Order: sequence, then C-alpha cells, then structure tokens
Amino acid sequence: MIAPRILLIIGGGIAAYKACELVRLIRKGGGSVRCVLTEAAHHFVTPMSLAALSEQEVHTSLWDLKNETEMGHIQLSREADLVVVCPATADLMAKMAAGIADDLATTLLLATDKPVLVAPAMNVRMWLHPATQRNVARLRADGVTVLDPDEGAMACGEFGPGRLPEPPFIWGEIEKALDRPRAALAPGIKGGALAGRHVLVTAGPTHEPIDPVRYIANRSSGKQGYAIAEALAALGARVTLVSGPVSLPTPAGVHRIDVESAREMAAAVEAALPADVAVMVAAVADWRAEVAAGQKIKKDGSGAPPVLPLAENPDILAGLARNPRRPRLLIGFAAETEKVVDHAIAKRARKDADWIVANDVSGDVMGGDSNSIHIVTRTGVESWETMPKAEVAQRLATRIADEFA
Ligand code: C5P
Repeated sequence: MIAPRILLIIGGGIAAYKACELVRLIRKGGGSVRCVLTEAAHHFVTPMSLAALSEQEVHTSLWDLKNETEMGHIQLSREADLVVVCPATADLMAKMAAGIADDLATTLLLATDKPVLVAPAMNVRMWLHPATQRNVARLRADGVTVLDPDEGAMACGEFGPGRLPEPPFIWGEIEKALDRPRAALAPGIKGGALAGRHVLVTAGPTHEPIDPVRYIANRSSGKQGYAIAEALAALGARVTLVSGPVSLPTPAGVHRIDVESAREMAAAVEAALPADVAVMVAAVADWRAEVAAGQKIKKDGSGAPPVLPLAENPDILAGLARNPRRPRLLIGFAAETEKVVDHAIAKRARKDADWIVANDVSGDVMGGDSNSIHIVTRTGVESWETMPKAEVAQRLATRIADEFA
C-alpha cells in the first residue's frame, strides 16, 4: 500500500508544539508529511524541528516557492492525499470559512482539491464565540472535517472546550479520513488487538450542584478509569473518555470529554455512540438536588437545617443496555463494602450489563493505587488477586480484546 501523504498546516497557537508529535506519529504510521507554517506559528515552533522530524523541506511563505514551475502552491496543495490543519486557530478558520487567501497556508487551503481535516485549539471563549461557531458550521457544510476540541484546563488558565485533541487521537482521525484501517497503516505500532474499535470509558465522580458553591460528590479519584482508558488506547482502540471532575492528566491517545453532573455524563455518553465497547467506571451520584438553588443557600437564623429534596439520577449503564445502539460489550463497575460478589451478580442482571467488575471499597480503594476485583459475567465469576490499578487496567484491556479476537 502506498504511504499516505499529508500536508500539515500549522497555525499560530500555544498548541503548535503538539504538531511536532503529530508529525512523528504520521511518520511512525508509515505516512509522509510536508509542513507549512503560518507567520504566527513561527513564534511557537521552529521550521528546523519540523524539517528534522518530517525529513522534508518546511514551507513558510508564498514567496519561498521560488520556482513556481518546480513546486508551485497549486502542486503543493494537490500532491497530498489529505490536508490537515493542526492547530487551527480561530483566525485561520475564519479565513478558511470566508475563502481568504492572503498567505501560503490559506492559499493552499483554497487551492486544494483534497479532503481537509481541521483540529482546532483556542481559548474557550474564542471557541464558544458565535463567530467561531458560525465558521465551524460553514466549514462543515463545505465538507471540511472539523474535530471537536477537548475540554479541560487551558494554557491561559481558563477551563472548557478549546484544547487541541491529543496527537494520537488526531492521527486516528487522519486514518479514518484516509479510510484506511489502522492496522494496515501501522503494523506493529498502532495495529493493536483493538485497532479499529471505538471504546467508551466513563471515569471519576460526578458533582451534583446544590447551589452555586456547594455540590454532592464522592471520593472517586478517577485513577482506575483513566488507567483503563490508557490501557485500551495502548491496544490500538479509539478511546473516548467521559470524565467527571478529577485532577488527572489525559492519558496518551485518549479523547477526553469533561463533564460535571450525572445528567451531563449521560448526554456525553449518548453523543459519543456508536461504540464497540463501553466500560462504565464512573462513580455516578445516585441522587442530585431536585432543584439547584440559583443563589447560595443561607442560614435563616432559626437553627433548623434547610430541607434538600433529592431526585434520582439517570442510570447511565442501565440506559445504555436498553439503547438501540447498545455497545456489543457493556461493562459496569460495582463498588461494594460487603457481599461484593453477591451484589455484583444481582447488579449485572438488573442492569443487563455483559460484565460487572466488582471491587471491595471497604479499604482504601477509592483514591488508592491497588484494587482487588471480581469479574462477574453472564456465565460465571473470575476473582483476581490484589494488584496495582495499572495492572488491573492492562489485564482488563487484554480480556476485552480477547472478546474481539
Ligand atoms: O448501582 P451502582 O452505582 O452500584 O452501579 C455501578 C455501575 O453503574 C458503574 O458501572 C457505574 O458507572 C454505573 N452507574 C451509572 N449511572 C448511575 C449509577 C451507576 O452508569 N446513575
């Protein structure tokens, strides 16, 4: 199979340094990549690094193309199989949407006859601004694939959607855009036992607002779910991690969507379907305040505590079991403090999951680094000895891959 040729246009944002990692992944995956930097991108990444990583000349200005007959902008834009814009700034997307061609990058984007994939990265307000959202909608209507940015803490100190998706995820999207199975492109590197599979993982606690400053939560750290997401990605799966509030870095190669409440988690899970496997590790709050007060609830001086009516949250796992797009393998977790296996057997049947991974949380499992689990399937129970959460994750990922072998 001929190696895919990628034209990588790098916009000027703090995430530009991640373009270097993307170049490395494209090369590792058997592709060739030619880089074009915008004027602003120079301030974040050097042509020298990109030339070294890509082993190709890096283009920066229209006027670099000294010999138009040798390498004109039309040829440069068309010799690729796919044009990737990473990171795409708000400004670059605005120019693309408007058809402006006032530098090499935008001229190539207007001149190309190849599919274009855009990975945006910008401040959360800039991403959410109606002008940017209009431009994204325009680009999508024009047939451009615009990835959703990741959510989370940003370099500028704010929080929300706008972070560049991790390079391994972008590489996965490039493979999809090229319509090639991962394993075929990258034998031995990307082609793991779960190559081509989409796995959905939930992790962490949920926060259920009581008023603007208080919430109902639990002690889940997210460590086990994050380790599972990482282990699945290492086996080549495309992993979407829907995470409650935790202070953990996004595992390599994982697409992370941050949520706060159970209802937000349920919506994010639904939006991420279809998936081949779902591993629901999140410690979802069973109840939320029926009504979250708009203002901070004050003591009224009577000495009587306020009444806080609770409402039951949707059961995301049970909902997924009934969903017409139910993943082929649906796995739940059960944190129990007594009769661990008995409760897990009942839970598996009640929620109609394929497996329940039961753990005894009577010790310091929540927040700790070790776990001892029992896997309850439709046909029996497997009990594993106590081991580090990372090892539980790796063995569980391998066990999942066996189901697809
Ligand atoms: O009923 P229990 O909370 O013990 O069930 C645990 C399993 O169900 C976990 O997999 C958890 O992620 C999932 N769950 C859910 N939505 C809820 C409660 C639990 O998906 N509202």
